[in-house]
Amino acid sequence: MQLRNAAVAAAATVLSLTLFLLPSTTNALNITHILAKYPEFSTFNHYLTVTQLAPEINSRETITVCAVDNAGMGGLLSKHLTLGAIKNVLSLHILLDYFDAKKLHLITNGTALAATIYQATGSAPGSSGFVKITDLKGGAVGFSPEDNGGEVAATFVKSVEAVPYNFSVIQISTILPSPEAEAPAPAPSQVNLTAAMSAHGCKVFADTLLASGAGETFAGNIESGLTVFCPGDDAMKSFLPKYKNLTADGKQSLLEYHGMPVYESLSDLRSNNGLVNTLATDGAKQFSFTVQNDGTVVTIKTPTVTARIVSTLVDKEPLAIFQLDKVLMPRELFKSSLPPTPAPAPAPEAKAKAPKPSSNHKSPPAPAVPADSPADAPAGDVADQTSNGGPAGFIGARFGAVIFSLCFAFIQL
Ligand SMILES: *[C@@H]1O[C@H](CO)[C@@H](O)[C@H](O)[C@H]1NC(C)=O
Ligand SMILES: *[C@@H]1O[C@H](CO)[C@@H](O)[C@H](O)[C@H]1NC(C)=O
Ligand SMILES: *[C@@H]1O[C@H](CO)[C@@H](O)[C@H](O)[C@H]1NC(C)=O
Ligand SMILES: *[C@@H]1O[C@H](CO)[C@@H](O)[C@H](O)[C@H]1NC(C)=O
Ligand SMILES: *[C@@H]1O[C@H](CO)[C@@H](O)[C@H](O)[C@H]1NC(C)=O
Repeated sequence: MQLRNAAVAAAATVLSLTLFLLPSTTNALNITHILAKYPEFSTFNHYLTVTQLAPEINSRETITVCAVDNAGMGGLLSKHLTLGAIKNVLSLHILLDYFDAKKLHLITNGTALAATIYQATGSAPGSSGFVKITDLKGGAVGFSPEDNGGEVAATFVKSVEAVPYNFSVIQISTILPSPEAEAPAPAPSQVNLTAAMSAHGCKVFADTLLASGAGETFAGNIESGLTVFCPGDDAMKSFLPKYKNLTADGKQSLLEYHGMPVYESLSDLRSNNGLVNTLATDGAKQFSFTVQNDGTVVTIKTPTVTARIVSTLVDKEPLAIFQLDKVLMPRELFKSSLPPTPAPAPAPEAKAKAPKPSSNHKSPPAPAVPADSPADAPAGDVADQTSNGGPAGFIGARFGAVIFSLCFAFIQL
């Protein structure tokens, strides 16, 4: 009976998910696809992709891309900037407002100031992340970085494509000069990870890292790309009793489990769901978790915890730091501390095949306290961090049933 209900609920979930997802994916802007129709922008398009600006553009709702043709890109490329610097420069060419040919020629009082993605990264000093647009004599429109001393750096050439008032692609004559954007970003290895985390709500995790050998593992991976998921202070504080119970190796693995040895921006995480390795992964010891979208929220799932990304602390190639609302508990460390019960540990295969809520209960009835206060739950029980309100088994069963119905739906197709 319960199984039936779960299946019906899952089917309804799948249906509503499908209805919810379809329209947004069909309307989505794909800047790579648009520019691919114009060979004269192939260099610009290529660099939007390799700097990972393309997904960032696609995720915005009101945007103007100031494209520069292959000849105009020559000057930028001859400077042999780092990829990070090229990304800064190009992000100055993406305006966070809608400007088509008509709007450009009808600017109130002759000048407008547009914020850019460079401004939005937070790394643009002063007003260097703004572009000034000026209506000039004879119908020309000038573009310049705001702090350019009033000199016009580039002019409007033509409108390429526009969907009023969502996105517009225009051509401008040349790359906008910006010493700030071109300045080599500080060597990534000089970023003080723990300081960055401490300053933004992950001080307990940062202190724990400093006190262990894992801090060096993190620092050693920044240059080649690193994504850190730091639990917020409340989550980490209530987890500390469990942490202190781990062996030295266990402590190190737990901390390293909160890092991925690649750089993934938030939009990468949104678009690349699936199982990922962590800094703790070591051959047979997988120490992996699953990244999964939940609407616009990105969640990280382990067998016993579903954590959400609640904020972005740093997101600048090659380093991203995201704050989580929970500590991630790897199956490799927390399986063994289960209190002996007749039920086996919940393997995902078992859940997917036979959603039977009651058999997966490992804990006494649903904890009445929030998931983040394990102090009141039975000591050593892994299930207390699990849920957003229900017993682990039930959520597992729902999730399993969703997967099951999804597979079924695909077979039907
Ligand atoms: C955008 O278009 C390009 C080229 O047509 C394609 O390779 C890419 O997969 C598309 N991206 C998305 C997110 O649809
Ligand atoms: C345009 O300029 C006039 C006169 O300088 C000023 O009063 C007005 O506020 C300006 N409008 C805008 C939108 O800046
Ligand atoms: C423009 O964006 C809005 C908000 O995201 C959306 O509802 C609308 O459908 C978009 N219009 C077009 C023509 O894509
Ligand atoms: C990073 O900052 C922490 C304070 O959060 C400090 O103790 C540590 O020495 C700094 N590390 C480096 C390499 O500067
Ligand atoms: C720590 O481990 C001991 C022995 O396994 C156990 O009795 C205790 O409940 C654990 N404490 C916590 C907070 O997990």
